[in-house]
Amino acid sequence: MAMKVTPWEVSGHIDYDKLIQSFGTKHISSELLKKFEKEAGELHFMLRRRIFFSHRDADWLFERYDKGEKFVLYTGRGPSGDTHIGHIVPWIFAKWLQDTFDCEMYFQLTDDEKFLHDDNLTADQTHKYAYENALDVIALGFKPGKTFLFSNFDYSKTLYRIAANVAKLTTFSTAKAVFGFENSTNIGMVFFPAMQAAPCFLPSVLKNKNVPVLIPAAIDQDPYWRITRDVADKLGYYKPAAIHSRFLPGLQGPESKMSASVPDSAIFTTDDPKAARKKIMKSFSGGAGTLEAHRKHGGNPNVDTAYQYLYNVFEESDGKIKDIHDAYKSGAMTTGEIKEMLAKKVETFLKKHQENREKARKHLDKFLLKD
Ligand code: TRP
Repeated sequence: MAMKVTPWEVSGHIDYDKLIQSFGTKHISSELLKKFEKEAGELHFMLRRRIFFSHRDADWLFERYDKGEKFVLYTGRGPSGDTHIGHIVPWIFAKWLQDTFDCEMYFQLTDDEKFLHDDNLTADQTHKYAYENALDVIALGFKPGKTFLFSNFDYSKTLYRIAANVAKLTTFSTAKAVFGFENSTNIGMVFFPAMQAAPCFLPSVLKNKNVPVLIPAAIDQDPYWRITRDVADKLGYYKPAAIHSRFLPGLQGPESKMSASVPDSAIFTTDDPKAARKKIMKSFSGGAGTLEAHRKHGGNPNVDTAYQYLYNVFEESDGKIKDIHDAYKSGAMTTGEIKEMLAKKVETFLKKHQENREKARKHLDKFLLKD
């Protein structure tokens, strides 16, 4: 299937080098990684494994950091349903960035976007999901006092003025070229990119001085940063820097999608741990059909869901993931065994996450920006 990557649709076989080319971003080079390591003291496994593989201006950000200028983080979530494991990949990395660089984090919940985009969602539903999804962010351990979440519906008084400044400098022809808008696109969607651009400048507005911003997010969000960077100079702000991650595949295999309407396609943070285990046991396998064939020919970790989830999220140790890779590939480790490994880790994660999530309900207000 031909590759398609837009903020609203990701499908087909993803060629990440091609994306870097067509989006005009940069590979994370080994020099940049060295720089990262020097500043951070160590590299997060998502950097070592190039799960974050592309960037804009991360080198510039470190130059400023070297000169004593602190940066803040900005990321977000389109609240169209429950949170799944794919969503939290960039958030896990963002938390590491916050802890390592002691930065503030601004987190946008685009209840407006999901209402405007999805015919089946009402504004009440997306607004409600925004606050349910916010619990998942807080449950990951972001710092109170340094972490600011906001629903676009509820923070629009502040955001709208910044968005209007962005919108005034962005023509319809640019928006059409970057986002693929058509005559049938509703005008809310056409304006929306300005709302997603606004938080790139929000910290500078709130602090009344220019603040460098780093956006950790999956690469499908990059079109927003492209138009934001185009207008930054004219508005007198820094261009936002970005660091881009790959996509986690759905449970149904390498090109499958995770979707709230297909429960077996993803592990949701609200899944009962036992139910999550069952999904893992049914997930797409890179094993060789029968046990006999598997022992003889081995499995294919590149397409195996359990391996991919361990590699991308749940097994941080490079030594352990290599052992798993080699054992599975040689056939020494079976499909049942690798799934069992993942299931244990996911059950442990979900139990703790769900406890944290319930605790977060009481503290939600401490994290929210509202007008
Ligand atoms: N549009 C994003 C989505 O649908 C949500 C979002 C808003 C976001 N601001 C962001 C994602 C900044 C990453 C970074 O999920």
